[in-house]
Amino acid sequence: GMPNHVKIVEVGARDGLQNEKKTVPTSVKVELIQKLVSCGLPVVEVTGFVSPKWVPQLSDAKDVMEAVKDLDLEGARLPVLTPNMKGFEAAVAAGAKEVAVFASASESFSKSNINCSIEESLVRYQAVTSAAKKLAIPIRGYVSCAIGCPVEGAISPSKVAYVAKELHDMGCFEISLGDTIGIATPGTVVPMLEAVMAVVPVEKLAVHFHDTYGQSLSNILVSLQMGISTVDSSVAGLGGCPYAKGATGNVATEDVVYMLNGLGIKTNVDLQKLLVAGEFISKHLGRPSGSKAAIALSGA
Ligand code: HMG
Ligand code: MG
Repeated sequence: GMPNHVKIVEVGARDGLQNEKKTVPTSVKVELIQKLVSCGLPVVEVTGFVSPKWVPQLSDAKDVMEAVKDLDLEGARLPVLTPNMKGFEAAVAAGAKEVAVFASASESFSKSNINCSIEESLVRYQAVTSAAKKLAIPIRGYVSCAIGCPVEGAISPSKVAYVAKELHDMGCFEISLGDTIGIATPGTVVPMLEAVMAVVPVEKLAVHFHDTYGQSLSNILVSLQMGISTVDSSVAGLGGCPYAKGATGNVATEDVVYMLNGLGIKTNVDLQKLLVAGEFISKHLGRPSGSKAAIALSGA
């Protein structure tokens, strides 16, 4: 059945801003993070310790971490992405208390996103998870291209299940299944989740949808019906993917909260404050919010 409570993992400051053409100043990122935390969001992904040559938008990762040390976090967790040991060490040195590794279910996407094969990435992540375990740092695992890949097309559920199980076995406390290019429908989400749930306990799984085809809320709803209770989303629908042409934003956090409120499912998120955070970053980026709920509720 449906969960009573859903944990929302807010990825806008990382997944969203890594895809903006315009580099957002560190101070704006930090103000956004503060606003997101004050909404009651339990997890706010803040940046990635990735190569500045690959993702220049996140080249201020260290400065962001330095600045968030002074924020009133109200118990929120602030994970960061780490693609390898170099990133992990830099993240820990900068004060990260939680990290995430990101593998792919598609060979082509693995190559274009992190410049190695799936197997090579799993070897790297084994090293990162071992190091994290020694420091008692919780580590999340992403599986991108969980439904399809921009190059290879449809990805088989068994491939997704394989990568998810590997990440779980190496000690990731949670596995986020990402429809990186946003092509999923409930018709493809259900068999993918069935395959993954056969090898990883459902309470360890999260879903991460993009709204490219306007399917993300439907996809979240079927996921909840299958017992998923962790949902990734991005304020104002920020996002896309630099290596997935045509991918639009992540599902908007405002839209997810609006739907969950309607279902009577608790999130601990203050929708009014979330609207303020979404408006803040949309104004800064000089474009309308990617959230329909935000547009409707702002009365514009
Ligand atoms: P590479 O070029 O193969 O790295 O990149 P390398 O090991 O050959 O090293 C080359 C240079 O990069 C060296 O510097 C390294 O020190 C440096 P040089 O000697 O030339 O001066 N380097 C680093 N610098 C900073 N931080 C590091 C790091 N590692 C090496 N961590 C690498 C491989 C993985 C680093 C690169 O491909 C990379 O950073 N990729 C990350 C790309 C990225 O962030 N993509 C977006 C993630 S979003 C996603 O995956 C999907 C998700 O959002 C879910 C969804 O939406 O579906 C999670
Ligand atoms: Mg995403």
